[in-house]
Amino acid sequence: MRKLGKVHLVGAGPGDPDLLTVKAARLLSEADAVAYDRLVSDAVMKMVPSRAERVFVGKESGCHHCSQDRINTILLELARRHRTIVRLKGGDPFVFGRGGEEAEYLGRHGVEVVVTPGITSAAACGAATGVPLTHRGLATGVRFVTGHAKADAPLDLNWASLADPDTTLVIYMGLATLPQTSAQLIAHGLPAETPVLAVQNGTTPKERRLLTTLSEAPDALTAACFRPPTLLVIGRVAALADAPTLIAEAEALALSEAAPAFRSVVAGHA
Ligand SMILES: C[S@@+](CC[C@H](N)C(=O)[O-])C[C@H]1O[C@@H](n2cnc3c(N)ncnc32)[C@H](O)[C@@H]1O
Repeated sequence: MRKLGKVHLVGAGPGDPDLLTVKAARLLSEADAVAYDRLVSDAVMKMVPSRAERVFVGKESGCHHCSQDRINTILLELARRHRTIVRLKGGDPFVFGRGGEEAEYLGRHGVEVVVTPGITSAAACGAATGVPLTHRGLATGVRFVTGHAKADAPLDLNWASLADPDTTLVIYMGLATLPQTSAQLIAHGLPAETPVLAVQNGTTPKERRLLTTLSEAPDALTAACFRPPTLLVIGRVAALADAPTLIAEAEALALSEAAPAFRSVVAGHA
């Protein structure tokens, strides 16, 4: 029987190919096959050698054949046919990437799996916008949380612990449930004027940013037509964002009206 290939679970970072690790770039250049999802940017995919087989395993657009079970099976099939397989995932494979499930499945089927970390979007979007996720006097810690909820179910999060003004909250996949997040955090004591920075397609040429407040965020992001992939940074540090890229006059107005609130939040803890 033919020996199974090795699967590398590789973080592709947030989109900018310069933010790939050196190891990720080397593995891509050596790959016989690359399975990638929708968060992997075109710029990164350009680094895949033309001889390598490419398999898109994105889950968007009602792509029935790309359920997690199907992705696992595809990876196993690739391991049967190739020596070096790169499973390329946006950001870091072990941060809201289901990389753990893929590694477990492949391991159960006798496939060697090696994980190469990538820059997760929280770190990348913070750096790209000038927002330190922790900052002396503003945030003593940071929490990464998923805003994804199953089919219209309420978000099952520990709101009392999340509503901590001393901790930065980074929400992945949080656009659809932002009204719940905003209402729950305020109900559990986080000030309504807490700054919120939204970053869509961070570090790519399509990047958009909007600085708003916790109470205004659901309406502001809807009005500005934010779409996934968008990352939400909630907390005092968000007010340190570089001048957000303004998308429309209305947003500029909303920002200028909200600015004093941000200044007072930051000044109170400087
Ligand atoms: C399934 S999670 C994958 C996270 C990824 N493994 C990581 O470490 O960044 C998808 C979510 O990550 C966030 N995300 C990923 N890339 C992003 C980017 N370039 N800009 C903004 N948000 C991003 C968004 O919240 C998106 O909905």
